[in-house]
Amino acid sequence: MSIITPRLLAIANMIFDGEIVADIGTDHAYLPIYLVKAGKATKIYATDIAKEPLSIAKTNLMNFNVIDDVELILADGIKWIKQKNIKISSCIIAGMGSSSILNILKNDNENIDCYVICSTTDLLLIRKWIKQNKYFIETETLVIDNEIIYEIIKINKFAGYKIKTKLDLFFGPIIRRKENNDLLRQNLYKEEQKITTLMNEIPKKTKNYKQFLKRKKLINKMLKKEKKNVKT
Ligand SMILES: C[S@@+](CC[C@H](N)C(=O)[O-])C[C@H]1O[C@@H](n2cnc3c(N)ncnc32)[C@H](O)[C@@H]1O
Repeated sequence: MSIITPRLLAIANMIFDGEIVADIGTDHAYLPIYLVKAGKATKIYATDIAKEPLSIAKTNLMNFNVIDDVELILADGIKWIKQKNIKISSCIIAGMGSSSILNILKNDNENIDCYVICSTTDLLLIRKWIKQNKYFIETETLVIDNEIIYEIIKINKFAGYKIKTKLDLFFGPIIRRKENNDLLRQNLYKEEQKITTLMNEIPKKTKNYKQFLKRKKLINKMLKKEKKNVKT
């Protein structure tokens, strides 16, 4: 059985060799198992807010013979990192919606250098947080897994791309500049269709309609740029 999906692999690829990693909301612990097997991290903490996923994680770690390499922690979010006075080089938060991720990021602290984030919903809220908190985007990518396109970003406090413009905020400063970005085009078309359907269902004078219209204009602007970028 292959435990590593394209999404999990793209997240793992953002971790450098020798890092101290925390996987928040590990669930099955597939990511920590892969990171140990690939010799990527020197120390891994795998956490979950609930007991049941942690017990499944424990079984999986035992089955893959890596139980001694991963420390399982029952905890809500990232407060425990500061409380235990542990230094984390990369903190992975994946497989949750952006509001839950934002809730976790509220407890951001100086013991964490980087975050690798993969939300199940739109990243706009997270990018706003990144801008407000003066983080840099070290790397970001799009990946398709089971017909869903995910955005994955690694952010840090020291160097990388800043979020400066509206286009950066909505589409990501690195993702939007990548040439021949077929996944971005697919994502934009899908979102444009979704927004058009929603706009057809609500009165034109509402706040929501106006917000959708703004978003649609940005998407069309991005799509025009993308069409120019396509190399045949
Ligand atoms: C859908 S799973 C994602 C598993 C894995 N990270 C992935 O990306 O495939 C979400 C997990 O996050 C856990 N979780 C949700 N909120 C959390 C929080 N505040 N702190 C720690 N774990 C949390 C849930 O219990 C669940 O096991």
